Amino acid sequence: DTVESVIVAIDGPAGTGKSSTSKAVAAALGLSYLDTGAQYRAITWWMVSKGIDLSDPARIAAVADQPAIVSGTDPAAPTITVDGVDASGPIRTQEVSSKVSAVSAVPEVRTRITDLQREIAAAAVAGIVVEGRDIGTTVLPDADLKIFLTASAEARAARRSGELKGADLAATREALIKRDAADSSRKTSPLAKADDAIEVDTTELTLQQVIDHVIALVRSRRAEG
Ligand code: DC
Repeated sequence: DTVESVIVAIDGPAGTGKSSTSKAVAAALGLSYLDTGAQYRAITWWMVSKGIDLSDPARIAAVADQPAIVSGTDPAAPTITVDGVDASGPIRTQEVSSKVSAVSAVPEVRTRITDLQREIAAAAVAGIVVEGRDIGTTVLPDADLKIFLTASAEARAARRSGELKGADLAATREALIKRDAADSSRKTSPLAKADDAIEVDTTELTLQQVIDHVIALVRSRRAEG
């Protein structure tokens, strides 16, 4: 069953199950899906591969408009390309994860990527689930439903190290905490809960429970009109 054109914003820190939840909700409701973190990772990967000095925000700003970043929005098979090259593998490396916060803090990068996100959301006729850090606050402040997912640092690190097969739990936890602190403290559209977002603490919930809860919230929001 599908709901008509509905825009759902799902924000929160890393390791809360944002991507798995967003994809499953979009698939269940016949909506498009956009992973905005993948876009920031893609522009970061492009800058790394071009040898851009990432310690210099002015250099990052100067080239922010150059790469062509294209996102495929099918929740069953999301894709991302940079200048026509499939970037879905390379954007998940530890190198990109450790550098993406610095790149995504640069205002010119955010303007560029935010414009792309609004174009994609506007083109999604059936509606879309957009996941990120600033979707409810900045990118799509008029979203029909805003969800803010949280979980304890322990739960988030455990989930992420499970995904990264064999990664050291303590090191994963440190890296996550560092990235969330950087994302939350940057000047331009930091990670933040919108005033009208519904907070869901996923620490004690299974993924399926989170998915079912968000689907129910979308349905009741639609019923309210
Ligand atoms: O969701 P993710 O962990 O793949 O996101 C990677 C990084 O991208 C995250 O650490 C900060 C940045 N990001 C952002 O600044 N704004 C968003 N809407 C999404 C991600």
